[in-house]
Amino acid sequence: MTKILTLDDFDFKDKTALVRVDFNSPIDPQTGKILEDVRIRMHGETTIKELAEKGSKVVILAHQGRPGEPDFVPLEQHAKVLSGILDRPVKYVDDLFGEEAKGAIREMKGGEILVLQNVRSYPREREKGTPEEQSKTEFVQSLAPLADVYVSDAFAAAHRAHVSIIGFAPLLPSVAGRIMERELNALGKALESPEKPCVYILGGAKADDALRISKYVLDNNIADYVLTGGVAGHLFLVAMDINLGKPNIEFLQKKKLMEFVQGIRELIKKYPEKIKTAPDLAIDVNGNRREISVEELPTNYPICDIGTNTIQQYAEIIKKAKSIVVSGPVGIFENKEFAKGTKMILEVVADSQGFSLVGGGHTVAAVEQLGLEQKMGYISTAGGALIEFLMGEELPGVVALEEAAKRKS
Ligand code: 3PG
Repeated sequence: MTKILTLDDFDFKDKTALVRVDFNSPIDPQTGKILEDVRIRMHGETTIKELAEKGSKVVILAHQGRPGEPDFVPLEQHAKVLSGILDRPVKYVDDLFGEEAKGAIREMKGGEILVLQNVRSYPREREKGTPEEQSKTEFVQSLAPLADVYVSDAFAAAHRAHVSIIGFAPLLPSVAGRIMERELNALGKALESPEKPCVYILGGAKADDALRISKYVLDNNIADYVLTGGVAGHLFLVAMDINLGKPNIEFLQKKKLMEFVQGIRELIKKYPEKIKTAPDLAIDVNGNRREISVEELPTNYPICDIGTNTIQQYAEIIKKAKSIVVSGPVGIFENKEFAKGTKMILEVVADSQGFSLVGGGHTVAAVEQLGLEQKMGYISTAGGALIEFLMGEELPGVVALEEAAKRKS
């Protein structure tokens, strides 16, 4: 990795720092409330605390969810949670780069913390571009003149070439925050040569990521087994011509995931022994868990977790592994009825003798809730970014920091 600058390379006293963190947290779809604050805590207790203590004016840029999704909520509650974690006031303005936001930044004193509106409220934020293109947007052009330095701490979103991730680096001195620094150091070491047998447990809702990583780790002989669960697992079952039933198929269609079925089918054909799918599942029958075998499908109820047989089969494979990567929960962990699969799989991983690497916002939240942090080899805040990193891809957010460091030297 090329050199990047860190918080040690800049004098923050009385300087305005734009700090991009990843506060993206699991949200209760009914109430819109934060379910787990682990990411807020991680950034809060490290980078944000250090900057405030160094006398910097700390302006937080963060996203939550994606527009149109139930977890796309304002950051006001994140600011409150942060204030509780740091035991100091944290101001929130419901504006990103308009007069209200700019006025609030100008009024700040050293040591104060301000959270701006969800960066994804700016429609252009998620449009891809080069750092130079992103630096010309109204968002960057409005805020950069008020800042002295850009701190990039959102490793978990560094795989996105979004405006707030790469647009400030061409214009401002840019350094990595402590979470970014820690992730890059630790992951670099952890991934040098994973010991075999190596098992990847892929769940969660981002099934496109699951397909890409499965293909990469199998084609490159990195993983000996890929165990599938979560929404990603449903898609693998569909690729085996299993009819999941109307509500489940409609869900996959709504999320535009069916287009990945063909790719998964080809992969399963190539590695029938290495890819494992669930032999049984838990369905939601009016709020209650009921387990059915795959032979009993289709079902008119939503599938929400892997079943007990699957847990047992997966556990046998995990116990023999020397390296284990977990990305994404295997069921709807937020719902008590459907937490069993994720809980039991994570417990087996925690007790295994192998080195375990756990990543993803929801997965890390589950690990924390279960109190298993100390028993995991390494916990990454990142999900998608971790996957890109595991595949040896360059992360635009990291490249932007490397370029900024080169300009400085
Ligand atoms: C994540 O949770 O993986 C990051 O916050 C990125 O979120 P995104 O996939 O919506 O860009």
